[in-house]
Amino acid sequence: MPVRNILRYGAEPLSTVSVPITDFSRDWQSLVDDMVATMYAAPGVGLAAPQIGINERLIVIDISAGDREGELIVMANPEILEAEGRQLAEEGCLSVPGYSGVTRRPARVRVRGQRLDGSSFEMEATGLLARAFGHEVDHLDGRLFMERLGALKRDLIRRKLRRRIRRGDW
Ligand code: NI
Repeated sequence: MPVRNILRYGAEPLSTVSVPITDFSRDWQSLVDDMVATMYAAPGVGLAAPQIGINERLIVIDISAGDREGELIVMANPEILEAEGRQLAEEGCLSVPGYSGVTRRPARVRVRGQRLDGSSFEMEATGLLARAFGHEVDHLDGRLFMERLGALKRDLIRRKLRRRIRRGDW
C-alpha cells in the first residue's frame, strides 16, 4: 500500500470535475488501499481520488484518522441527497497545507454511494462527518474549501498561494 504524493493547490486534477465510476469489475481496491495509506500517513480525515491525480468519483473518510476501528468509509459516486441545518468550523485540506478558514456546511447530510462491488448504500452524517462528506464531494466537483470561505479570506489565501507558486515555494 504505497503512500502517494498528494497534489497541491494549482494542480489541474484538483480543479477538474471527476467522472462517475461505472466499471466495478476493475480493481479499485488497490487504489483505495493507496488512498487510505496516504490519508493515514498525512495524517488526515479524508481523501478524494483527484488529490492523488485520479479524476474518478471515489473518496475515503475516517474522522478518527485511523485511531478507532470501524470508522473507515470508502464510497464511490457519493451523492448528497439531503442537507439540513448549518455548522461553522475551521476547515483545512491536505492539498492546501498550512492554510485554513471557517466554512459553513450543513449540520446533517444524507449521503448515497456505492461500495467497490457496485452495491448502493446510504448513510446519515452529522458534525465532522457531515463536514467531511461535503469537503470530499466538493473535491470530486473540482472545488476546494477556500470557495466556501468569505470573499475576503478566500482572496487572501489565494493571493498568498499564487505568490508562493510564482516564487517556486509551493
Ligand atoms: Ni481536501
